[in-house]
Amino acid sequence: MSPVKESAARFAGKTRLSLAVADCTDFLAALPDDSVDLIITDPAYSGMNNYLKLGRGRIVGEYKDAGEEGAKWFPEFIDNPPSFSRFLTQCQRVLRNNRHVYIMFDSYSFISLAPLVRNALDVKNVIVWDKMHIGMGHYFRRRHELILFASKGRRSIPSRGMADIWEVPRIVRPHYPTQKPVALFSRMIECSAEPGFTVCDPFVGSGSSAVAALLAGCNFIGADISSRAVDIANDRCTELLATGIDPLEKTVQLASA
Ligand SMILES: C[S@@+](CC[C@H](N)C(=O)[O-])C[C@H]1O[C@@H](n2cnc3c(N)ncnc32)[C@H](O)[C@@H]1O
Repeated sequence: MSPVKESAARFAGKTRLSLAVADCTDFLAALPDDSVDLIITDPAYSGMNNYLKLGRGRIVGEYKDAGEEGAKWFPEFIDNPPSFSRFLTQCQRVLRNNRHVYIMFDSYSFISLAPLVRNALDVKNVIVWDKMHIGMGHYFRRRHELILFASKGRRSIPSRGMADIWEVPRIVRPHYPTQKPVALFSRMIECSAEPGFTVCDPFVGSGSSAVAALLAGCNFIGADISSRAVDIANDRCTELLATGIDPLEKTVQLASA
């Protein structure tokens, strides 16, 4: 593997959690073919910052700990169509057959990049994540994000009675910028994974997807280009597994806790 750093928690001799500092595409490129059972991911798109002309400010920037004016919360994925296509090609390659993918998009990236997913995977649905409270935004303030649901091969979901609008409250005062609720990833996993599956998130951030995977008895493999993010995610998962409680969302607990 190319990652600079890799950390793993081992249980009964079996690796359940593996986190690496790496670029998303490099990370996936180092994995074998057909080695992942589910991809759930929330990329740091750069398009909204770079191209969307809204008011005076950038969407992501000036985070209070960032230090310099205009500094970003975290590195952004250069999400032009060629780089996003390379990323998608790797997603398709590492995914086993008859498995699912969930890729989150802000509305700007959805317009520019989501159509490319059709070249790599079978797009099944666009799910609306209703955050239930308005956030920032110009003109109409944002209350939702989009989740593109796709498959490689055929796989059903457990029920035909589920809507494509998911009401999950946003995290208020997050520990990590753009930290997503564990419940959001748990819903993806409930619909598309079984205990023992290997769940993958190449933009792991604070590790909310990893927590959801561990809660469901899945293995988790993930990466982030930021070593700070990987440290946060690793500490978070280690504490969850040691105490049964998610230190970043205290109401989230392992069933046995
Ligand atoms: C939107 S955040 C993910 C937040 C995460 N879902 C959570 O709940 O904490 C996106 C992450 O992508 C990372 N990132 C940016 N560019 C990347 C790249 N080229 N490869 C991998 N990770 C990258 C950022 O450091 C950031 O942590």
